[in-house]
Amino acid sequence: ASTTEIDVGAIQPGQSIKATFRKQPLFVKRLTPEEIAAAKKDDAVDMRDPAALAERTKEGHEDVLVTMGVCTHLGCVPLGAAEGENKGEFGGYFCPCHGSHYDVAGRIRKGPAPKNLLVPEYEFKSDTVIRVG
Ligand code: FES
Repeated sequence: ASTTEIDVGAIQPGQSIKATFRKQPLFVKRLTPEEIAAAKKDDAVDMRDPAALAERTKEGHEDVLVTMGVCTHLGCVPLGAAEGENKGEFGGYFCPCHGSHYDVAGRIRKGPAPKNLLVPEYEFKSDTVIRVG
């Protein structure tokens, strides 16, 4: 199976990038300290698919969120990974197909999607480079 390597050090806090993993869109987001604080605060909120930020990131790298860029409703590619795109009401990603809003941890917060954006298997090869798959 193929893997994808990404230099997350090249992503500025507050930015997301879209890459490709096994022919599907992959989002990599660097969270700002404010976004990390907001996501942790929301860990306690009632959610459709409960998961703490710490469960969706790697230890020591809670500022790096790696998810598939595939809406868990019917598979559209959400917006929010490129400059100026609509990030939705929770500041993460927004799927325009039927209006699903994901937060900065990629968790479904509003709209028809049943699950959080999937976190693929990945690891840090170094402080700044991840290998997905
Ligand atoms: Fe994303 Fe329906 S496919 S909301």
